Amino acid sequence: MTLLKIARMGQPVLLKSAAVIADPTSKQVEELLDDMVETMEDAVGVGLAAPQVYEGKRAIIFKSPRERGGEDGADTDFSPLTALINPEFEPVTDELTLGWEGCLSIPGITGAVPRYSHIVYRGYLPNGQAVEREATNFHARVVQHEIDHLDGVLFPMRMTDLSLLSFNEELKAFMDYATVHVAGSSVDKEG
Ligand code: NI
Repeated sequence: MTLLKIARMGQPVLLKSAAVIADPTSKQVEELLDDMVETMEDAVGVGLAAPQVYEGKRAIIFKSPRERGGEDGADTDFSPLTALINPEFEPVTDELTLGWEGCLSIPGITGAVPRYSHIVYRGYLPNGQAVEREATNFHARVVQHEIDHLDGVLFPMRMTDLSLLSFNEELKAFMDYATVHVAGSSVDKEG
């Protein structure tokens, strides 16, 4: 496995629509996903999309671990580390929730982004198996964030209140202001 270079905001690859993967079971895709996992874990992220490592292909990895969501969350709030090829989602309800996001392509910055709080997503595992899952809360958020990367969308482009954008170094002071605006959230790392 290889640690890959992560594209940062400004690199054109992050603004392009990624290509559908014809064969999810190919050796190339397996190697790309293995390298993405190593790269994400090294960067201490919870999600990564192929365009973030300069590969314009529709592949993402993500996780929504129980240790960051508390013990009383629903099962759909959580996901083990998952690699998905050609992922898609649709909202289950129109409800949007404002929550904190970061991105490995925008290091050092956190912002509050509205996302659907309940979605269904589909895609293919690296073994070719089709999957369909329901996701809520942070699990739904990370999947929407990663699928956005496949369509050239970065989280600030989804923000509706740019005053809710901060350098991580300023978060302590910022939270005094921002928690008034963003209900009950702590800041999460993301991909
Ligand atoms: Ni990201």
